[in-house]
Amino acid sequence: MATINLKINGQTQLVDADPDTPLLWVLREELQLVGTKYGCGIGSCGACTVHVDGVAMRSCQLTVEQIGEQKVTTIEGLSEHGNHPVQQAWLAHDVPQCGYCQAGQIMSASALLNDSPNPSDAEIDAAMNGNVCRCGTYTRIKAAIKSVNAVG
Ligand code: FES
Ligand code: FES
Repeated sequence: MATINLKINGQTQLVDADPDTPLLWVLREELQLVGTKYGCGIGSCGACTVHVDGVAMRSCQLTVEQIGEQKVTTIEGLSEHGNHPVQQAWLAHDVPQCGYCQAGQIMSASALLNDSPNPSDAEIDAAMNGNVCRCGTYTRIKAAIKSVNAVG
């Protein structure tokens, strides 16, 4: 056990954890940031996606030791009032069904749009490929991402 200094959503958080604890566990169990979901635990579903220094990463596959000084953003920190352009597009397109995968979907989409404000279909497919949705919201997700492009 060690005291780990993490930068989460613009704040410094001190947590007591083994250095090899997955970030996802610390987010959910220690910091109660439960918007980030546990799906598979093996890097295959995308439900646990967060931004690490702006890059979409699977928090179940990163230890807190690996995070170091990098800045982590979760769905709770994406926007102050839930009004990030991607979140607004998700509402406008009525994307969520059960909702379980959607925080991860939004974190992947927002990282993509930060890097590529006007992504091609192929770029969208490549960026979103690892985010699984059991409810099959893929068509609406793509439409929502494209609508952010149209606005921005
Ligand atoms: S829980 Fe991390 S990729 Fe599925
Ligand atoms: S909205 Fe249900 S799993 Fe994606």
